Amino acid sequence: MIQISLIVNGSPVTSEVDPRTLLVQYLRETLELTGTHVGCDTSQCGCCVVHIDGKATKACTTLAVMVDGQEVTTIEGLAGKGGLHPMQRAFHENHGLQCGFCTPGMIMTAVDLVRRRGHDLSDNLIREELEGNLCRCTGYNSIVSSIAAGAAAMAESERI
Ligand code: FES
Ligand code: FES
Repeated sequence: MIQISLIVNGSPVTSEVDPRTLLVQYLRETLELTGTHVGCDTSQCGCCVVHIDGKATKACTTLAVMVDGQEVTTIEGLAGKGGLHPMQRAFHENHGLQCGFCTPGMIMTAVDLVRRRGHDLSDNLIREELEGNLCRCTGYNSIVSSIAAGAAAMAESERI
């Protein structure tokens, strides 16, 4: 076992982990943060995306020991004292989900996209950036419009 210390959703955490433990397993099974989903386990679906030091990363192909000393944000940590994050609210208001299985990863990817590419996002750019996130329900149109709306709302709220 190896001891790791990290910040998860703003709180310090220290754990003993088997070196083979995947970050997504650690989050779901040890910390009980089950909002991060597992859809494929092979880095294709994007259901497991979290932020590591602010960057979107697939937690199914990251070892827990790799995030020792880093800051991890999951979907549970995105909302603030003022309520839902603007991107979460945009998905809610623009019907950006059906079953919701892909949604945590979509939202974490979308927030990272806005941070990297700004608030004025074309539909084509959003679609290109979503190549690592699969949705089996929506047909993507409502996800794309949710992300565009969320990006604009983030600019207004100054919440990144
Ligand atoms: Fe990580 Fe599918 S579970 S990409
Ligand atoms: Fe069901 Fe995307 S809303 S998989």
